[in-house]
Formats: sequence, C-alpha cells, structure tokens
Amino acid sequence: MSRKKILVVFGTRPEAIKMCPLVLELKKRSVFDVVVAVTGQHREMLDQVLELFEVCPKYDLNIMKTNQSLIRMMTAVTEGMDHVLDQERPELTLVHGDTLTAYATAVACFMKGYAVGHVEAGLRTHNLNEPFPEEFNRQSISVIAKYHFAPTKGAQQNLFREGKKEHVYITGNTAIDALRYTVKENYSNPCLQELNGRKLILVTLHRRENWQDPMRHVFHALRRFLEEYEDQVFALFPLHRNPMIRENAMRILGECKNIRLTEPLDVVNCHNIMAESYFVLTDSGGIQEEAPYFGKPVLVARNVTERPEGVEAGVLKLIGTEEEEVYANLKELLENEECYQRMSRAVSPYGDGTASRQIADILEREL
Ligand code: UD1
Ligand code: UDP
Repeated sequence: MSRKKILVVFGTRPEAIKMCPLVLELKKRSVFDVVVAVTGQHREMLDQVLELFEVCPKYDLNIMKTNQSLIRMMTAVTEGMDHVLDQERPELTLVHGDTLTAYATAVACFMKGYAVGHVEAGLRTHNLNEPFPEEFNRQSISVIAKYHFAPTKGAQQNLFREGKKEHVYITGNTAIDALRYTVKENYSNPCLQELNGRKLILVTLHRRENWQDPMRHVFHALRRFLEEYEDQVFALFPLHRNPMIRENAMRILGECKNIRLTEPLDVVNCHNIMAESYFVLTDSGGIQEEAPYFGKPVLVARNVTERPEGVEAGVLKLIGTEEEEVYANLKELLENEECYQRMSRAVSPYGDGTASRQIADILEREL
C-alpha cells in the first residue's frame, strides 16, 4: 500500500509550536509520508521552535520582510505554494489556525484542487475587525477545508452553525501537547533570581488591532501599576520582533525599574517562566490556552476573544485596552486575594495533551 502524503504548512511562531507536535506524531506512523513546508512569515521566532522540536522543513519560502504588508505576504505565500503543491501533489495539506500563512496556503490548495485539513478550526469572534485579519482568515479556511479539527465543543458548534456537517472533530488543542515537550521539573532561570520575593508578571502584546493607540494605553497603565508596586512586582516582557511594538515598549516602559524588556523567549523558557509567574497580561491567543493549564490568571488586553471557554471557567478576564480599565484590573488582581484565588484554578479547557494523537488517528482512518 502506498503511503499517503501529508503536506504540513506553517510560518509563524505559534503555528510552529502547535504544529510540530503533530508533525512528530504523524512521522511516527508508517502510513504517512510527511513533508513540512514553512513560509518563513516569521524568521527568528520560527527558527527557535523548529530547532527545539528538531523539525527540518523540506521547503522554506523565506518570505519575511521588515514591516511586511498583508498583501505582499499573501502573494508571496500563494506563489510559493503553487510551486510546492506542483512538486509534492499531497493527498492532504494541513494548515493551522488563522494566520496569513494558513489562509494563503488554503487558497492556493483550493485553486489547484488539493484537499485541506484545518487544525484549530472553528474559533470565532464573529467580528471581522477583531482580530484582524485573523477572523477573516479562519472563516475563509473553514469554507475551503475538508477536515476540521476543532479544539473544543464550542468551536465544533460554530462550524455546525455555519453548515459544516461532515468531518468536524473535537480533538483538543495541540498547544497543550506542546507543553509535554517544553515543561521541565526543577526549571531555573537567572531572571527568576532577580525577583527577590517580588511577584512575577509575564507580559506579551502583539495583535495587529492593538498596534498604535491601544498598545500605548496598555503600556501607560502597566507603567503606572509597576511604579506604584515597585517593591511587590517585577514584570518580564519578551518583545515580539515587530519593530513598532519594540519602539513603543522601549519609549513608554524603558525607564521603569521593575520591568525587563527582552528578546522573544524560546518556547521552553516561555512556558516554564509562565508556570513560575504570578499572573499574565497578554493579547496572545496561545497564551490564553497555556496559562490556565498552569493555573495562572490571564488578563486579556482585548475587547473580544475567540476562546470563551477560559472566560467561562473564570480563569481568563477580558479587560480591553483602555488605560483606566487595564490599570484597575492589574491592581485588583494583585490586591484582591479572593479575586486572585478565583482566577488561579488550574483548568485545561483546551485539551489534555492528546490532540496530535487524535488527529493522526482520524487521518489514518479517513485517508
Ligand atoms: C502574525 C500573525 C498573527 C499571529 C502572530 C503571532 C498574520 C496576519 N498575523 O502576526 O495572527 O498571532 O503572527 O506572533 O498572519 N518579525 C521579525 N522576526 C520574526 C517575526 C516577526 O523581525 O521572527 C517582524 C517583521 O518586521 C515582520 C513583523 O514582525 O514584518 C510582523 O510580522 P507578521 O507575521 O506580519 O505579523 P505578526 O504581528 O507577527
Ligand atoms: N511564546 C514564546 N516566546 C515568547 C512569547 C510567546 O515562545 O517570548 C509562545 C507562547 O507560549 C505561545 C506562543 O508563543 O505558545 C504564542 O505566540 P504569539 O503570542 O506570538 O501568537 P498568538 O498565539 O497570539 O497567535
């Protein structure tokens, strides 16, 4: 029997973190011929992850440019994938989530008549502007995909409501699978020594709709909070490589004594530091899935989330991006012990670490 060729495509840090466990699982199975193509939508932040998981792509479109535009990325990915698809003629192409890489790859597959499987399918805010352009990307991929791997029941319901009837599976999120590779017992890091009894707040911010004013409001709120509680808290803020985020963070937070602005953490350090933190302030999607697993409260600097399960469980809180709101929520979570206890229950609404295995089982059955 000939092996079924599966092409796995990704390009950004979070896609890599969530797709590498699946690549490793598929490779274990002799029925599949697994080919990895990366777009290089991210560069350093992608390479860090590939190295950790020891995944070697056969194709690297290497498309990243400083301050890249969505249109240019879309063109570069579709053109690049045109060639990759001609070379490989895969039985199935797997894409992940809602990035430009995933969207443009799915469109290329559709235009050339190749089947698509969508990992992390069915997340919705139902607002095309938040997150932008991700909500459009993921809705469009759902139109194209043949197989939909939804992380939660809610995501599956979203797909059912859109008329998807077949091949809509609940598998959990492969983000939780990744933690099995990264979380270490007896982890230590010099940064943790710097705390001197202060509580560690992990901060990340990068969403496109938060660029400009929202990001600045969040940074001003964070600075007020850090200055007020200088002897109680210490923040670690690994900066996304996007130059605009760096400039604003350096300008507004650079002088603050109790914050460390660093390069992006590699994923092992990121996950282990998250596990050691007191709480997290973020607009990241992946961190909304991971932090609840560690029992770490998450203040989400966004107006909406496509991950309502964590909000319903009371471990994620949407706080928007207005300075007063953000400041008040930071203060409350630090000062109000009852509020902290309520938000710091360890729950895992996004899976039990077996999503890759479940997806591979389904593909063995279906292909
Ligand atoms: C992208 C995704 C977003 C995802 C995020 C994860 C889209 C439209 N956006 O947003 O859904 O949540 O990744 O982080 O697909 N850069 C580097 N080195 C890197 C990575 C980025 O220098 O390794 C800089 C470049 O100047 C690049 C800029 O960051 O142009 C923005 O990268 P881009 O992928 O366009 O957008 P993100 O905000 O990272
Ligand atoms: N992450 C990381 N280093 C960092 C910041 C985040 O490894 O310095 C990890 C994080 O734990 C999660 C993923 O990157 O697994 C989230 O990526 P990001 O926030 O860039 O994208 P999103 O999830 O919002 O699409």
